[in-house]
Amino acid sequence: MSIHISAEPGAIAETVLLPGDPYRARWAAERFLDDARLVNETRGMLGYTGTWNGHPVTIHGSGMGMPSLSIYVNELIRDYGAQTLIRIGSCGAMQEHVGVRDIILAMTASTIGSPSQSIFRETTFAPSANWDLLLAAAKAAEGCGCPVHVGGVYSSDTFYDERPDLNDQMTRHGVLAVEMETAELYTLAARHGRRAMSVLTVSDHLLTHEALPAEDRERSFSQMVEIALKAAFPS
Ligand code: HPA
Repeated sequence: MSIHISAEPGAIAETVLLPGDPYRARWAAERFLDDARLVNETRGMLGYTGTWNGHPVTIHGSGMGMPSLSIYVNELIRDYGAQTLIRIGSCGAMQEHVGVRDIILAMTASTIGSPSQSIFRETTFAPSANWDLLLAAAKAAEGCGCPVHVGGVYSSDTFYDERPDLNDQMTRHGVLAVEMETAELYTLAARHGRRAMSVLTVSDHLLTHEALPAEDRERSFSQMVEIALKAAFPS
């Protein structure tokens, strides 16, 4: 038990997939894991543990934004010993050459501010993905038949952002997409010597204002889960 996770000791696998939405955790566990069982439902943040191809895996919601993710990832790492943490989520494209439905593997994550930021004082830490996971995900994504981009994302806790100039600077500097969690995930993994990566689907486009139709969301989400699992356990 930890403050926000009621799982028994040992009930969380070393490999954890982190969708923002707890109902996505349930959907992915039912669809991809064998013998999935509910291990946490405190505050409705569902977590399931089962196996994929014989490998123990937990799929646990992170909530939206870095403050929420920070709580779950801190406890998953410090109280439950999670070693490999892979976010699976959506993002908004910030480049013309990135399309809705494309997959983004987040190599780095810029941020205007994360829960960890204050500890770095005058320095700017560069949160980055684990290379082995990134490489394995890039290989796994070749089979998905959809465009895949590897590069930087922008993590912001403000979905309804009143500062479009910040997005403009990110676009100008080649950042592929905006989302709300990856910078803190990568920073926590670095601090604790764990492996982390984010696999993201482009659900909307900040420049063209196109959005992923509801009927395509399930397929896109499946692609991400498959890439994440194959990256965690390369054959
Ligand atoms: N902003 C932040 N997070 C997101 C977005 C967005 O436009 N789209 C999907 N996740």
